[in-house]
Amino acid sequence: MAHIVCLIPGDGIGPEVTTAARQVIEASGINVEWVPLPAGETGLEFCGSALPERTIAAIAGHGVALKGPITTPIARGHVSVNVQLRQRLSLFAAFRPVRNLPKVKSRYDNVNLIIVRENTEGLYSGLENEVIPGVIQSLKIATADASTRISEFAFDYATKMKRKKVTVFHKANIMKKSDGLFLNCARKVYSGRSQDIGYEEMIIDNGCMQLVRDPSQFDVLLLENFYGDIISDLAAGMVGGPGMVPGANFGQSCAVFEPVHGSAPDIARTNVANPLACIMSGVMMLRYLGEHQTADQICNAYEFVLREGNPENLTRDMGGTAGTEQFTEAVIRAMT
Ligand code: NAI
Repeated sequence: MAHIVCLIPGDGIGPEVTTAARQVIEASGINVEWVPLPAGETGLEFCGSALPERTIAAIAGHGVALKGPITTPIARGHVSVNVQLRQRLSLFAAFRPVRNLPKVKSRYDNVNLIIVRENTEGLYSGLENEVIPGVIQSLKIATADASTRISEFAFDYATKMKRKKVTVFHKANIMKKSDGLFLNCARKVYSGRSQDIGYEEMIIDNGCMQLVRDPSQFDVLLLENFYGDIISDLAAGMVGGPGMVPGANFGQSCAVFEPVHGSAPDIARTNVANPLACIMSGVMMLRYLGEHQTADQICNAYEFVLREGNPENLTRDMGGTAGTEQFTEAVIRAMT
């Protein structure tokens, strides 16, 4: 039976990297029926909405989606489609494994982090209004329900995967109530768990300094929404760049898989984007669907291409000369 998977190509480099992931998944021979859906610029153009209702309904109905990045206009325009999508579908947990990849050069060779980010509230929701001209207020909402739910997710994952430690980054010295609530919920969840897993709290400014000093001291990072957004990119920079980090957004009944990077308008439609993060997101999706063998097959193939280190098969950000398409073809060749 075919897996039915919603496919949101997205904006900028989104169509290029999702096409690559789709081609690699199809080359494995697995039976996937794709349901292409508009969002972002295509949503505005064809449906008059950046996030059409039919896109939400289809993901809710089929339960799984592979998504490309979507552009959010800066200091004007519609609210973020990503924020809306995560809130509307209750995709409460962003899950982002950040690891060194074989032979991909970076400043660090000891990164193996799992970023768990609360995905539905906090400053990142963009709840803002003009109080009077020249005065803006921005709301940071924190609830015990959401903070507890994401803490449980982080500790469940750490326990299941036998990780060593969960570290919460916070700013509860300044935001005593909102980050204080987040912290208290994490503490409460931790206190009810087996103490085999370490627990640690760190004020986020120190956390950033510690991360760039020695990332190997961290294992699972638990963060509220806004901090999770920023730390994800910081961590991507530690393993070679945005093209190397996949992601998943999990809810109770559905999941949306997408690379951590944005729509990269500066390189869109130039066959320069590294599709690896999107391919890796596809691999995470296959595991979610229970297709571990196919996931391993694709994973082995891209690792082979990386290990081989032929510049003609690697994209620019990995030190090569290949375009998006050539890298994708090399991965497909390595699968057969
Ligand atoms: P970005 O991640 O799109 O780009 C940052 C830098 O990384 C650029 O130099 C870009 O060329 C490079 N880059 C990104 N992905 C790459 C890849 N796969 N291969 C090679 N190079 C890559 O971040 P930026 O410029 O801050 O945001 C651009 C747009 O993307 C904004 O509208 C933003 O709101 C949106 N965005 C969307 C996300 C999503 O849909 N999940 C996530 C992050 C940003």
